[in-house]
This record gives sequence, structure tokens and C-alpha cells, in this order.
Amino acid sequence: MFQETISREDARQLYNRLGPGLDRSNRFEERAKALALELLAVEEGQRVLHVGVGTGMEHAVLQRAAGPRGLVVGHDLARGMLELTRRHADTPLCEGDAVQLPCRTGMFDRIFSAYLLDLIPLVAIPAVLREFRRALRPDGRLVLVSLTEGVNLPSRLFVAGWTLVYRLSPQWLGGCRPLQLAPLLEAAGFAVERRVIVQRGFPSEVLVGR
Ligand SMILES: C[S@@+](CC[C@H](N)C(=O)[O-])C[C@H]1O[C@@H](n2cnc3c(N)ncnc32)[C@H](O)[C@@H]1O
Repeated sequence: MFQETISREDARQLYNRLGPGLDRSNRFEERAKALALELLAVEEGQRVLHVGVGTGMEHAVLQRAAGPRGLVVGHDLARGMLELTRRHADTPLCEGDAVQLPCRTGMFDRIFSAYLLDLIPLVAIPAVLREFRRALRPDGRLVLVSLTEGVNLPSRLFVAGWTLVYRLSPQWLGGCRPLQLAPLLEAAGFAVERRVIVQRGFPSEVLVGR
């Protein structure tokens, strides 16, 4: 597992530059994200925090699920991503780093974050997970999606190729590398369920933390 990724400043610039081009990765990720949203099971009137909103496709789904009585808050490091999200959804949006969330303790029923932790340096992931735990109500639910290690021949080959390219330039791959998040989530105090979805060879883990 790569410990280091790209710096926070490089991530901000990269995702600001990428803009709507980020949606090209959906052909590898949309099934894992659809399962994650199903497992998140947002109910009408709930408070939901979405960290690393990207272009906002899932954000709009969260807003519809929480309905007019709910509250969905989006958070991202890159202002360009927040601006794209604003086109899909009318919710509060905050710019910042996931290691420090601008919210009260126990404020959210649900937290959703897809393909964010896989670009955070390993040493910083526990701090992000502590923030997620702090922001969540004690009976709340966290759902994460991340690139992970391969589970069958196509996905192992995919990850081997990915790893070679990552060694050359993490930037070409959005800074994301394969992770195994379950032990880190357990160490942060969550009870964890994990599923793996492979789409076009790309393996994603979907984790539910309670
Ligand atoms: C790979 S994209 C995933 C976007 C979206 N969740 C999706 O699944 O399409 C990663 C997102 O996380 C944001 N990001 C990167 N580092 C971050 C950090 N430290 N804190 C908050 N957001 C961050 C990026 O700007 C980008 O929008």
C-alpha cells in the first residue's frame, strides 16, 4: 500500500483543473457508488454530510432523499468542484480539508464519502476518520467507497497496471491508490461491513461503519 499520495495543494489544483472531466471515471465507479447510496439509506428529514463532493452527481441524489425537511451539507477541498456541485443541488457547501470539518459534534445522521480517502496520505486517514466519528450521531451511519486491492484475475491485473502508473505519476490517477480501509475504520471505533464491487476490472470497496 502506498503510504504517501499527492500533497493537499496538488490535490486542490488537480481537481480544480479536472472539473467536469472527473465524471469520466464514473464508468468504473457508478455501480459501487449506487450500492453505497443504497446502503446509506438516507431517510426523509435526516441530516447528511457529504465529504469530497466531486462534480455533485451523488449530492443531488442525497438532497432528494433527505427532502425539504432534511439538511445535506457538501464539503470539498477544491472550489471548482463545489461550483460544479452547486449546478446539481441547492444545499450548503463548505470549502476545506476533511481533517477538520466545520460542524458540531454529533450533528449528522449519515456521512457519505466516495473515492476521497484513497487520495489521503495514510498517516492522515485516522484523523479524517476521527472527524467523521465526531460529526456523526452515536446511532449514525458512515458509508465510504474507495479503490481497493483486486479480488479476481481482471481486478488484480487492473491494480497491477494502476500501481505501475502510480509509481510514475500519482497525478495521472487523481492521486488515488488502492486501500484496505476496514482495519482503519475498526481502529477508529466503527463496526464495519465491507463489500467489493468490480466494474470493468476496477475494484471498489464499499464500507458501512456504525
Ligand atoms: C476522486 S474525487 C471523488 C469525487 C466524488 N466523490 C466522486 O465519487 O466522483 C476526490 C474529491 O475529493 C476532493 N478532495 C481531495 N482532497 C480532499 C481533502 N483533503 N478534503 C476534502 N476534499 C478533498 C477533491 O477535490 C475531489 O472532489
